[in-house]
Amino acid sequence: MLILGIETSCDETAAAAVEDGKKILSSIVSSQLDLHQRFGGVVPEIASRAHLELICPVIEECLQRAGITLDDIDAVAATAGPGLIGALLIGLASAKSICFAAGKPFIAINHVEAHVYSAFMEHNPVLPAICSVVSGGHTDLIYIEGIGAYTLLGRTRDDAAGEAFDKVSKMLGLGYPGGPAIQEAASRGNPSKAPLPRPYMPESWDFSFSGLKTAALYRIRDKGTGNIPDIAASFQKAVAETIVYKIMKACEEKNVNSVLLAGGVASNKELRKLLERQASAKGIIFQAPSPPLCTDNAAMVAGLGAVKLANGETSSLAVTADPGWVIGEEPGC
Ligand code: KG4
Ligand code: ZN
Repeated sequence: MLILGIETSCDETAAAAVEDGKKILSSIVSSQLDLHQRFGGVVPEIASRAHLELICPVIEECLQRAGITLDDIDAVAATAGPGLIGALLIGLASAKSICFAAGKPFIAINHVEAHVYSAFMEHNPVLPAICSVVSGGHTDLIYIEGIGAYTLLGRTRDDAAGEAFDKVSKMLGLGYPGGPAIQEAASRGNPSKAPLPRPYMPESWDFSFSGLKTAALYRIRDKGTGNIPDIAASFQKAVAETIVYKIMKACEEKNVNSVLLAGGVASNKELRKLLERQASAKGIIFQAPSPPLCTDNAAMVAGLGAVKLANGETSSLAVTADPGWVIGEEPGC
């Protein structure tokens, strides 16, 4: 089963050809980093325009590198939400046009579910599992009984983990995207020299990173950015410890011994190391995708598309983009 996947929910224009849900024949990710860098974050209108220019060349390169034509594919899967409305529409309209013209089935994909599925592409996770999708737009804690069987336990009440990384990076003058920049600076810092709070909120499954972000802001305002690596290391540690705390608590309360991590922030080395250490101490298996599958890509979209097609779950061409599509629910219009 060969699926063409298309992903344009934020600032990556991506297309991938995936066989049988796991074998990546080609995966093209065209990042718009250079366009958004000087604004310190993604500018939605610029993202939409860039997707429009890039989508056809990216799809063509994907097919060419995989050595296939549209005739060879069984279906087209595209992200329909959540994400930026203008950005989503470009990928979605492209996918639907190909399906209409080539007479192929169309599959609308939830971006967060695709991130969850990315953890299944290189591993065969034990289920049920607790999965945390930590990215620039989402921080979700999900109980998974199977692909398609999700209970959303908690999510961020304000900033997503990656968004907090990006904003603190901007405050420290480290640039965009903030995650990799903070990780690099943190490797030279001492977290105990710039203590920051942990927003554990033990009474809730939800996350909240805006207070931590503000604490970093006040620290910078009061003491300056003289010790940038220390603040970076302290912030990274605070985020990692908070995410790991929630995941471990969810494992205990749901009596689960399998943990998955996905999304751009899942490529953070400190977070992976901490989760690995705490999970293995409790006999819990921890699995996460390799970094190129953590950040936005279309391979995870195509892979999930194969599972959906195998289950007969195709979508109507009338499905439109849903910027707030919650995992496990039907997309709105
Ligand atoms: O999953 P993703 O590519 O896009 C969304 O769905 O949002 O995640 C992008 C986010 C950005 O906020 C970026 O700063 C963060 O992931 N990120 C990282 C790292 N690499 C990317 N955060 C922490 N450490 C990293 N190494
Ligand atoms: Zn994403």
